[in-house]
Amino acid sequence: MTVRRLADESVQPASFAFSAENAAWAEKRIGLYPAGRQQSAVIPLLMRAQDQDGWVTRATIEKVAEMLGMPYIRVLEVATFYTQFQLQPVGTRAHVQVCGTTPCMLRGAEDLINVCRSKIHHDPHHLNEDGTLSWEEVECAGACVNAPMVAIFHDTYEDLTPARLEEIIDAFHAGSGASIKPGPQIDRQFSGPEGGETTLLETPTATREKFVPPAPPEAPAAPAAAPAAPLLRRRPPMLQSPAMSPRKTLLRSRVRRLTPRSARRRPKKHASLPMSLRRLMARPTRPCVKAPPVPSPMPPRSTVARRSARSRQLLVPLTGPRRRPNR
Ligand code: FES
Repeated sequence: MTVRRLADESVQPASFAFSAENAAWAEKRIGLYPAGRQQSAVIPLLMRAQDQDGWVTRATIEKVAEMLGMPYIRVLEVATFYTQFQLQPVGTRAHVQVCGTTPCMLRGAEDLINVCRSKIHHDPHHLNEDGTLSWEEVECAGACVNAPMVAIFHDTYEDLTPARLEEIIDAFHAGSGASIKPGPQIDRQFSGPEGGETTLLETPTATREKFVPPAPPEAPAAPAAAPAAPLLRRRPPMLQSPAMSPRKTLLRSRVRRLTPRSARRRPKKHASLPMSLRRLMARPTRPCVKAPPVPSPMPPRSTVARRSARSRQLLVPLTGPRRRPNR
């Protein structure tokens, strides 16, 4: 873990501006985010600026902050947090990132680092003599299955040997890095076996035909349809309410007028009970009359004796003074 700081002021450019093409790209990118969320474009804009100039300068951070309406410190926090952002000047033709994490280290990453030390500079993040090359050690770049590997800008070069890395560095130094094919540097496809495939070698012979379902059997001729019954427009007789005679209507209205409102309302909680039970519960209850005392068959309390719990044989009168039993 190293402290990531901006480069010294002596190497910082005075200003930064996107090229016309990159400025249009940045405007389009910012427009992808909903209103008020334009700050989410900070990482894409910083990465685009790095692709343009090779590294992230102080002027770049200030420019991106102004474009997104952010405080400078917020953009600085992002740029110094992610190690993908280069805060120092890098080689103009190649910045070699050597993976030094365990799988690559076990497969010879140390030898690749020694190549970078000898061909570029002894220390990482330093330019070579003509300023075209630089290198650094990074954490896993996600190509462990083809370890060891290096990344140069956005491409990875895998299954490396020290000799092959020297050739790659020489090619980039000469300005012909585009001629190097990225990916595995040995005879294999992606992470397949070296020298060609060893399984599933047959040429596929099966052909797939579209499934056509068989036609359904002929259905027997249907009997002649009976004439449709006429639609009933009236309700069934059981559901029809008979017309009430005028005398009955008059009687019902009088009863309703004379009955208190509370008595007319059916209690909801008994609505599901049968009618016989509901009638029973609707009957007025008689006032409770206190029953006369029933004479007890027991003798008066004063004559009752209780049995001692200790001996269960000695009778002690309740009213008399307590006496110790003779032992
Ligand atoms: S450990 Fe090197 S790419 Fe993953």
